[in-house]
Amino acid sequence: MADAVGNIEAKEYGFGIEQKSEGFFVKGASHLGWGLQDRLRRIFNPVSGNTVMLAFDHGYIMGPTSGLERMDLTIVPLIDYADCIMCTRGTLRQVVPPTSNKPVALRVSAGTTILTDLNNECLIDMEEAIRLNASIMAPMVAIGSPEFEGLTIRNLTRLVDMGNKYGIPVLGVTAVGKDLVRDSRYISMASRVLAENGAHVVKTYFCEEGFEKVVAACPVPIVIAGGKKLPEAEALGVAYRAIQAGAAGVDMGRNVFQSECPAAMIQAVGAVVHEGLTPEQGFEKYNDLKASL
Ligand code: R5P
Repeated sequence: MADAVGNIEAKEYGFGIEQKSEGFFVKGASHLGWGLQDRLRRIFNPVSGNTVMLAFDHGYIMGPTSGLERMDLTIVPLIDYADCIMCTRGTLRQVVPPTSNKPVALRVSAGTTILTDLNNECLIDMEEAIRLNASIMAPMVAIGSPEFEGLTIRNLTRLVDMGNKYGIPVLGVTAVGKDLVRDSRYISMASRVLAENGAHVVKTYFCEEGFEKVVAACPVPIVIAGGKKLPEAEALGVAYRAIQAGAAGVDMGRNVFQSECPAAMIQAVGAVVHEGLTPEQGFEKYNDLKASL
């Protein structure tokens, strides 16, 4: 308890020096509260403005896909190289060491798998996200799905309400769907709908034509999913073109953990995303690291 007597009198008031009021570097986030900004700052690098999220939540819809059979062996060694990790609450508790100290994009929607219909989902409890110290909450949103568009937008809306209440941002994930056409018209609409409904960050797919328009018309940062495994040089090219078009990073899974050398690949992706390496330079870095590991 502070002493009641004998305290040094306050005198350093800094008269003439204005109290700093800093702006905030994440797109669309200048007017957010402290907790939301703090969590976004943990995800996005303030120097590059970008992020490399390592996604390994695939098992919740597709089971133990290649590279995720033993996540303790394949994923845990990669965590240090990521800016943020994206996974389910099961994986977080079962496999990810709490000492990792990485911001977590927590998969907070759960439901049907690739064996039936995707995207028939519910949400986990908000208290779970708080308990697990999520830095951002990631629900699937199935724009254009005749069956599940309404349900998944309601899920997003509820999460945004709760996230704003507790200071945890929402990463709206444009859903994978069997009939999805990944062109700029669709991706732009889906991304914009997520942002308008309050998502603080949008995760979507890259398209070669018109991606800069997708980014321009989305008032929050876009991170791209990597998609199916490509040769390393091609995947680095996708990351490069997405960043050049204005994306704020990648949320990449299979192109990292299914790579011939995942540790080299995630570092090469990081150099493209944060340092602006060209795909050729990135691939050279990948090969150099691969040879040294
Ligand atoms: C799908 O939404 C999953 O949540 C994955 O996190 C996402 O697709 C990113 O992984 P990948 O780069 O393998 O597509």
